[in-house]
Amino acid sequence: MHIAVYPGSFDPTTNGHLDIIKRAAKLCDKLIVAVLENPAKKPLFTVEERVTHLKEILKDYENVEVQSFSGLLVDFAKSVGSNIVVRGLRGVTDFSYEFQMALTNRSLDNEIETLFISADTQYLFFSSSQVKEIALFGGNIDNMVPQIIKEEINKKLKEKSY
Ligand code: PNS
Repeated sequence: MHIAVYPGSFDPTTNGHLDIIKRAAKLCDKLIVAVLENPAKKPLFTVEERVTHLKEILKDYENVEVQSFSGLLVDFAKSVGSNIVVRGLRGVTDFSYEFQMALTNRSLDNEIETLFISADTQYLFFSSSQVKEIALFGGNIDNMVPQIIKEEINKKLKEKSY
């Protein structure tokens, strides 16, 4: 059974992430979307909120699970019986960071393979950080995130009274 892990911050999940998930889910028996709990970062959404959003968005995908993790990705992958890490590539600017991360993970565990998937062209130009910035300044993020994320961002921005 091929189990793949798609790790990330997902703060928030974008349509680009969703596109990678759909593509990756077709290539493996089970895809685990793994949300990093990173105390060093100040996220807009808590890890629990991010997991809840992803579970709602992905509820119809039978071979996709959502979990959170902390610590090393290679340890998490091993704990769920996976040696395949999926990462999305938006272009050459992502490549050097992603390549370095893939080699670091392999140096930590020689069994780990990183599979790069490119999202559809319409998703190549924006990131979670840009989505947050655009929303903060009242811009239109309709084509960038699932509807539930749009609603949750608006709620969060009101709560934090930005
Ligand atoms: O969505 P992101 O923020 O680009 O995802 C980065 C992520 C979560 C894949 C990466 O930071 C990660 O795997 N962190 C876990 C800690 C770890 O294993 N570090 C060593 C490899 S760089």
